[in-house]
Amino acid sequence: MEPLREFFSHEKYLVCLTAALKQEVVLDSGATVLNHSMALVQRLEALLTQGNGSDVTLRIQTLDTDEVKMIQAHTLVLTMQSDVFDDLLLNRNSSVLVLRETQDCAAAFDKFIRYLYCGDISVRLDQAIPLHKLASKYHVQRLQQGLTRYMTQHLSSESPAGHVVSWYQYALQIGDVVLKDSCLQYLAWNLSSVLQSAEWGSISDELLLSLLQRSDLILQSELELYEGLEAWISQNQPAGVTVENALRSVRYGMIPPQHLFRLQKQSPLMLRYYESIRDLLFLAFQFHSASPVQFAKYFDVNCSLFTPRNYLSQTWGSPWVINNPTRDDRSFSFQTQLGPSSHDSSKRVTWNALFSPRWLPLSVRSSYAEHGAMQPTRTDNGRPRIIVTPATSSPDFAGVSFQKTVIVAAKQQGKVVVRHVYNFHQSTEEAGDFLVDADLQRRASEYLIDSSLYLHIIVKPIYHSLIVAKK
Ligand SMILES: *[C@@H]1O[C@H](CO)[C@@H](O)[C@H](O)[C@H]1NC(C)=O
Ligand SMILES: *[C@@H]1O[C@H](CO)[C@@H](O)[C@H](O)[C@H]1NC(C)=O
Ligand SMILES: *[C@@H]1O[C@H](CO)[C@@H](O)[C@H](O)[C@H]1NC(C)=O
Ligand SMILES: *[C@@H]1O[C@H](CO)[C@@H](O)[C@H](O)[C@H]1NC(C)=O
Ligand SMILES: *[C@@H]1O[C@H](CO)[C@@H](O)[C@H](O)[C@H]1NC(C)=O
Repeated sequence: MEPLREFFSHEKYLVCLTAALKQEVVLDSGATVLNHSMALVQRLEALLTQGNGSDVTLRIQTLDTDEVKMIQAHTLVLTMQSDVFDDLLLNRNSSVLVLRETQDCAAAFDKFIRYLYCGDISVRLDQAIPLHKLASKYHVQRLQQGLTRYMTQHLSSESPAGHVVSWYQYALQIGDVVLKDSCLQYLAWNLSSVLQSAEWGSISDELLLSLLQRSDLILQSELELYEGLEAWISQNQPAGVTVENALRSVRYGMIPPQHLFRLQKQSPLMLRYYESIRDLLFLAFQFHSASPVQFAKYFDVNCSLFTPRNYLSQTWGSPWVINNPTRDDRSFSFQTQLGPSSHDSSKRVTWNALFSPRWLPLSVRSSYAEHGAMQPTRTDNGRPRIIVTPATSSPDFAGVSFQKTVIVAAKQQGKVVVRHVYNFHQSTEEAGDFLVDADLQRRASEYLIDSSLYLHIIVKPIYHSLIVAKK
């Protein structure tokens, strides 16, 4: 076979040429490795660019255009990397193999072929989808998996027009559940930024409605969400039924009445669709008019209308930056409003939070106790824990359960992003995996931003059992 001979003659040539570079590694056995693999890769790349020994021409036709690109390739390399190329090359009738590609894939084709020869590739945000399409079409699994990983790790990267929404749509289309969920979670956990971005206007009806269902959205307030919805609707002018569904997903009970009054009289969207949400508004005003316990005697409170999301406004929690978190236990106090009902708007609850960097679960502690040793909270085997308790108790707490949420930020590609959201009643121990892989001892831990742990604690008053985090 022609290319094979080329290949070996180049290899021999290379060995002679680069022996002088002394890239030698002495092994334990006394043998020495002469390593010229980098130079080999460079020769392979030259084979592709110069076309020496080529035995097949790839003719890439861009669909719906006259654009054609020719690449001199080698069946050996194509066949080795892709069983799809193997089939195509077996069944071809001429030395030209015609490939029809969409515009974006045709533009990325050179990069793709180069990867087949060299095994490395540089990717920009806007090239991820076309390259992934090519990797899928030609069954180059390692590239496909690498690109999926690249996308899940670059959700927070800066791009002028945004890229997460198009990645979400693509993941949905190809049925990649992991990528789809990562995109959805990123949008849900960074919603305040997303609402301000150009990308927000481009989200589909389906994506909008699936975001609106989620209780784990992280944003300033429900009012912010309503305003974002108004902007999206005025930009997209969707069908009436979509507007109704979207408007019915707003949690009006979480918006104080003074804002509801204003929306009811001044929001053109609400004026137009008033009849579709009248029942919800009425229920929200009833909720605001009495104590939630009174209200719950007559109405079902186990519904989304009365379930808080993760609101960052200071009414519902506080940021907490812990410097050198492994040093010692740290405590912190903050206040939240008793509940979202207007009836509770002037009542505050003071919370004490305690962070322990190395706390031992009860089961481990009792085994230490049996052996009569050690201060339990001081060993190196313990795990981080936060407990949040009210500073005082009050008869107002009857019928309310306060769900605590800790949002943990981490650095990803130089950006501060939400990395985890933990829900619990009193102690993060309930969550089971609190900061389990944060490795706070390590200075380079991605969970440490300037040697500090960045948390935000939210207290959510709910009138039924714990909200299960929606994945
Ligand atoms: C040869 O060198 C390349 C890069 O220079 C390296 O990735 C590879 O592991 C080395 N191989 C051996 C056998 O040392
Ligand atoms: C390709 O052939 C040309 C001339 O025949 C030669 O100069 C060049 O080094 C060759 N390239 C490779 C990669 O073998
Ligand atoms: C090759 O030729 C055969 C017979 O002429 C034909 O049936 C087949 O479709 C051709 N294949 C390609 C890939 O053009
Ligand atoms: C939110 O997205 C912006 C860019 O769109 C990014 O800079 C920021 O780090 C993200 N924040 C979080 C909390 O993910
Ligand atoms: C609340 O509603 C959900 C489903 O709507 C149900 O699964 C759950 O059991 C209800 N909880 C209570 C306390 O009624």
